Amino acid sequence: MFNKLRLWKNQNNSSTLRDKIEAIKKLPVPEHVAIIMDGNGRWAKKRALPRIAGHHEGMKVVRKTTMLANDLGVKTLTLYAFSTENWKRPKNEVEYIMKLPEEFLGTFLPELVENNVQVKMMGYKDQLPVHTLHAIEKAMEETKHNNGLVLNFALNYGSRAEIIDAVKQVLNDSKSGILKENELDEQVFSSYLMTSEFADPDLLIRTSGEIRLSNFMLWQLAYSEFWFTDVLWPDFSEEHLLEAIEVFQKRQRRFGGIL
Ligand code: IPE
Ligand code: IPE
Ligand code: MG
Repeated sequence: MFNKLRLWKNQNNSSTLRDKIEAIKKLPVPEHVAIIMDGNGRWAKKRALPRIAGHHEGMKVVRKTTMLANDLGVKTLTLYAFSTENWKRPKNEVEYIMKLPEEFLGTFLPELVENNVQVKMMGYKDQLPVHTLHAIEKAMEETKHNNGLVLNFALNYGSRAEIIDAVKQVLNDSKSGILKENELDEQVFSSYLMTSEFADPDLLIRTSGEIRLSNFMLWQLAYSEFWFTDVLWPDFSEEHLLEAIEVFQKRQRRFGGIL
């Protein structure tokens, strides 16, 4: 309730937004929403700003999106923040992105705590700078007893590497007799992935007009609904998230069956 009040206040108490939220809440809301937050660089370029200005602006959108998802009753929000391929970028850009978790959590952690949000991370921790990992682990620790929205950052995440690692672990467990070949099924294999504790995403959103997955949750998105928009991530608003969910609520999910 407090969260909702704050959101409405921040939105100048826009009644259309409030009505939309209430209408959406009357229908099933996707339990797990995953977002490929793309277009920060192009947003900055359009304004003749350095690319990092786009990443900074994008951080504010992470906050707004998290608060609205929490308010709607979404259980898990997975945000693709940095891929295993993003290390190819210029050093200064990578360094800047790696400072964002500290900046974001330094500012918003109290608000996340207050709103019952639980922070998690999936990705390869070993290659992250110590200061980046420290900020995330602190947030995970401080929010671990919260039971509202799980805000799951995909940071230094890559789906192919994740799948290869899962296969290696399966082979090891098979060799040591922990896992028998006839026990391996889709559910068991899922338990070897970084997402073992989450249900598969119901809805995938990608901003910036790119229609691709860029190595994101290849296994987990097998039956997710996709929603793409040309809007660049820093311009992504509450209205866009609500629109995506409205579209989701009109879709018929058949999972290979017939209705
Ligand atoms: C997404 O925005 C953020 C990250 C990949 C870290 P981009 O930085 O990819 O922005 P564009 O796609 O170049 O506009
Ligand atoms: C995907 O965006 C990764 C993140 C949003 C973190 P990219 O900008 O890296 O994807 P490509 O290179 O356009 O496929
Ligand atoms: Mg991009």
